[in-house]
Amino acid sequence: MILQVSNITKSFGTDVILSDVSFHIEANQKAAIVGINGAGKSTLLKIITGELKPDSGTVSVQKDASVGILKQTQGLTDTNTIYEEVLSVKAELLALEENIRRTEHMLKELEGDELEQALNRYSRMNQEFEDGGGYAIKSEITGCLKGLGFTEDEFTKSVSTLSGGQKTRVALAKLLLSKPDILMLDEPTNHLDMDAIRWLEGFLSSYKGAVILVAHDRYFLDRIVSKVIEIENTHAHSYDGNYTVFAEKKKQLRDALIKQYLNQQREIKHQEAVIEKLKSFNREKSIKRAESREKQLAKIERLELPKEINAEMDIRLEPNITSGNDVLTVRGLSKSFGDLTLFTDTDFEVKRGDKVAIIGANGTGKTTLLKILNGLTQPDSGSFKLGAKVYTGYYDQ
Ligand SMILES: Nc1ncnc2c1ncn2[C@@H]1O[C@H](COP(=O)(O)OP(=O)(O)O)[C@@H](O)[C@H]1O
Ligand SMILES: [Mg+2]
Repeated sequence: MILQVSNITKSFGTDVILSDVSFHIEANQKAAIVGINGAGKSTLLKIITGELKPDSGTVSVQKDASVGILKQTQGLTDTNTIYEEVLSVKAELLALEENIRRTEHMLKELEGDELEQALNRYSRMNQEFEDGGGYAIKSEITGCLKGLGFTEDEFTKSVSTLSGGQKTRVALAKLLLSKPDILMLDEPTNHLDMDAIRWLEGFLSSYKGAVILVAHDRYFLDRIVSKVIEIENTHAHSYDGNYTVFAEKKKQLRDALIKQYLNQQREIKHQEAVIEKLKSFNREKSIKRAESREKQLAKIERLELPKEINAEMDIRLEPNITSGNDVLTVRGLSKSFGDLTLFTDTDFEVKRGDKVAIIGANGTGKTTLLKILNGLTQPDSGSFKLGAKVYTGYYDQ
């Protein structure tokens, strides 16, 4: 067991966020923390890293174990290139390599016992360098950066020129390559495209240490975790298995609760009917019996119907005016920004009722295409036509 969280309670003002939260993680276990927005997932992670103090309860991390969490874009050095920035997490190994080179030079000038000692030191350092993965640094960094969606051309780009999303990916690469014993990621997929998410899945699945993940992508979670910790109404419950197993158990639990609730309701109705009946006899004896039953009924702990998880979510996508069958016709659309060509000669059609996904890696022009279709950006060439009685709604990034 590398992490033990015991009886954590945390409030902000009068809002109780976490009550009596306990769970543990084994040394190479991958776990998800799930719960609705505002459930307290990020708060819990901050308590584990020590950034926040709980009101009560304890977090114990196995002695000497390192804990790493993605810090948005903090801790990046603007003057570094992407590659240098990521390389900085290997500072210890690089210093060791430096030392090895220095010793190598010294060897030429030494003899006798001194040479013997230096040679011993030299071979020890070499072993340490190899064990620490010194020879793999370059391929490891390259693999990680490419996996997270950077091209090799970009490795020499200065950190200062990067967008927020790119900086987050650099910070993520640094964190992954620093290989903490407990790796915590709070919604890491938000800045990643599909390919990078797939790569991260592979990386985390074979990660040697423990991983604690917060993510809303159930397929992502499914492929990685073997334990799910759910925060619900300030309490945490742990489930063994991946997300699908969790969802299934959750459903069974819910169904059982609904059944219990319905049974209880039936029983209450029955009792009330009996009481009604007894009272209607209007005799002392039956009224006494009615009253005693009423008392018993009042003592029952009333079950509540489990809340519908998305009870407040009621989205209907029904246009108030029915359009013609041809909704959108795109012909020969092209767009470049300077040397960067996003798309050329793009044709497609959308018919009434179609639901269309636009997919592609980061920076391929998905948002630009939507902006063109909403008249916010001009295409270089080509055209598009909205059909009869077509009105658009646009929710941007
Ligand atoms: N520093 C803070 N001060 C006051 N309230 C906070 C603070 N941090 C988080 N909260 C509140 O605590 C609740 C849980 O937040 P959070 O841990 O971010 O949830 P989650 O990560 O599950 O979405 C939310 O209601 C949030 O508004
Ligand atoms: Mg959060």
